[in-house]
Amino acid sequence: MQKWIMSGLFFVACALAIALMFTLPGKEQVAQEEKPTMPEVTLDAAAAEATLKASCISCHGDQLQGGAGPALNQVGGHMDANAIFNVVTKGRKGMPSFKDQLKPEEIANIALYLAEKK
Ligand code: HEC
Repeated sequence: MQKWIMSGLFFVACALAIALMFTLPGKEQVAQEEKPTMPEVTLDAAAAEATLKASCISCHGDQLQGGAGPALNQVGGHMDANAIFNVVTKGRKGMPSFKDQLKPEEIANIALYLAEKK
């Protein structure tokens, strides 16, 4: 008898799980979250250098030669501005997320600046 109750509960749980799958945000929404879109800005190198100095050199070195984080002085060789924007916005492992410290436009500006470094 108890077995029937257990399997009944199991089916109810499955039905709930399936219902949840349809109500949770769709794949497209999740994809957007994962890939924040970079706002369009025109490169302001002086502002980028100032932001880098204030927020990044403690880990990436004062000449961007690397330190606790990898060197960024040639990062443009393997990452485009969008990829850099993503990492800086969301963070990755030891790299903190800057979405609460910097405006998207500021991050976009450093991303453009760093993408030029090849
Ligand atoms: C607390 C230390 C720390 C700070 C501050 C920091 N980073 Fe990082 N950063 C890291 C670490 C560690 C990694 C390597 C992450 C990994 O292994 O995935 C990294 C990775 C990166 C990468 C990817 C490099 C590559 O070759 O894959 C970029 C780009 C980057 N950081 C840019 C920045 C910028 C721009 C700033 C300032 C806004 C900044 N970081 C501030 C620690 C830091």
